Amino acid sequence: MMKRAMCWAFVVFSIPWLANDVFNPGARTRNDVTTGNLVLGATQSQPGVNSAERDEAIADIKKRIAGHEDDLAEKVFKNIEILKGKKASRLPGMMAALTGLLGVNCTYCHVKDKWDSEEKPTKQTARKMFRMIGGINDNYFEGQNKVSCWTCHRGNPHPPIQ
Ligand code: HEC
Ligand code: HEC
Repeated sequence: MMKRAMCWAFVVFSIPWLANDVFNPGARTRNDVTTGNLVLGATQSQPGVNSAERDEAIADIKKRIAGHEDDLAEKVFKNIEILKGKKASRLPGMMAALTGLLGVNCTYCHVKDKWDSEEKPTKQTARKMFRMIGGINDNYFEGQNKVSCWTCHRGNPHPPIQ
């Protein structure tokens, strides 16, 4: 029970970061609507995520980039598009958040321990989704972070259509 609560707290705290820095780099304000949705979501369980495995993988990556946290992501990692121009230190938090937002493990998008591989179509889809959200927020919400992965996915890789 405690573990689940921690897991969700993790997702909740990850979101404002994702929303502000990745979905819309120019945005300065916090998205209260998104944050509100996430608090509601915090009572749901997230059976698909192996949090021990996630935490270990994240710790490994942090160790690997030690001393290069402030370098650009594309310098430190290999296949970077979405995080281009951002600090490398942003990547571990973004990856951890993605598992919570979709309710999946790292290996849903990655070949284990071959993080730079582009083999899994889900990794490509995730990038498309980031661009989609950027477009929706720019075109329909005056550049504010109103729509996030959570808006549709809510801890489910396949959002129900109705
Ligand atoms: C929903 C899909 C998704 C999930 C889940 C996910 N990732 Fe990623 N990951 C990506 C995408 C997309 C990129 C490329 C980011 C970019 O283009 O800037 C990436 C890039 C990376 C990279 C950089 C690899 C390189 O050198 O190019 C690492 C390391 C990484 N992920 C680790 C993880 C770990 C660890 C987890 C689990 C905690 C995880 N990812 C979960 C989609 C995902
Ligand atoms: C407007 C709603 C919406 C938003 C916002 C959204 N998605 Fe999706 N996403 C979908 C739908 C619908 C599918 C198709 C699911 C299916 O095929 O069952 C999907 C599919 C995916 C898939 C592929 C799943 C699979 O197994 O093939 C990934 C990965 C994904 N989304 C990641 C993301 C990420 C990461 C974000 C945030 C950057 C995001 N999505 C935001 C609606 C959305």
